[in-house]
Amino acid sequence: MNLSLRQTRIFEAVVEHGSITKASEQLHLTQPAVSMQLRKLEEAVGMPLMERVGRRLHLTDAGRELLKYCRRLSHTAREAEAVMKAMRELEHGSLSLAVASTVNYFATHFIAAFHARYPGIQISMEVTNRESLLQALRDYDKDLFLMGQPPADEALVVEPFMDNPLVVIAAPRHALVEVAEIGLERLQDEPFVVRESGSGTRMALEGFLAEHGLALASQMEMNSNEAIKQAVMAGLGLGVVSRHTVYLELGAGVLRELPVAGFPLMRQWFLVHRRDRPLSRGAEAFKRYILEQSQSGELERLPGKLMPLG
Ligand code: PGA
Repeated sequence: MNLSLRQTRIFEAVVEHGSITKASEQLHLTQPAVSMQLRKLEEAVGMPLMERVGRRLHLTDAGRELLKYCRRLSHTAREAEAVMKAMRELEHGSLSLAVASTVNYFATHFIAAFHARYPGIQISMEVTNRESLLQALRDYDKDLFLMGQPPADEALVVEPFMDNPLVVIAAPRHALVEVAEIGLERLQDEPFVVRESGSGTRMALEGFLAEHGLALASQMEMNSNEAIKQAVMAGLGLGVVSRHTVYLELGAGVLRELPVAGFPLMRQWFLVHRRDRPLSRGAEAFKRYILEQSQSGELERLPGKLMPLG
């Protein structure tokens, strides 16, 4: 069936007004042009769509049926127009992001996929720990934040978008690698390499141990996930990091995840922004993109592709 969007719009206008004259006025077309398009449409479907009753045109059964589809087609066309317009406007947008140092390990994969969709958006990303992120939020700095659990605060819009499993890591030669089930209290006896205070990972670990009435006896502090990984590999002790930061090392067998009771300690990643700082168009698009991908399960699959043991 050969029918054009132009014809469906003309048909809808004639139905709405019940008159060719009024429809042609609304569409700024001549009456013969409208009649001709309507006739062509009837020829295309092979049935009359309207019949004259007195001065008004009424729909036939076929007309009523076709109208439903015409409305859907125009709705889809309007939707496409709106999306294209938004994309055009996004050609020169910008996005300033600040992410937790742990988020850095996967955020770039999201950014690469987002950049492929909106290549015109200029992106800047700052990588820092939880405490500095909270300061940047207070300072109205940056459009969007990707971080662990933010504080309860009415001024913030907070959307969870992905799981964050914290795991205990050890060097492959560590004695505990041979143990099939490790009790949580066993961790107290082990030297640990932990993140700096101000890190969300550290806060979560300490909170979890305190809930169980435990504390680490011996710990060395380092201010990055990379430093912790290297220290654990060098045999300085055990570490607790997000599994997102060690997928390569676990895959290569240079680090091992220990089966400790209560681990992985399941946390969540959140997309956060201030309610009273309007989002740039680029930031709005990124937020929409992350939430869409999160709902469809795509985000979980993205770092998962890189995580053979995930
Ligand atoms: P961080 O990660 O440890 O790099 O601050 C953020 C978080 O887990 O909340």
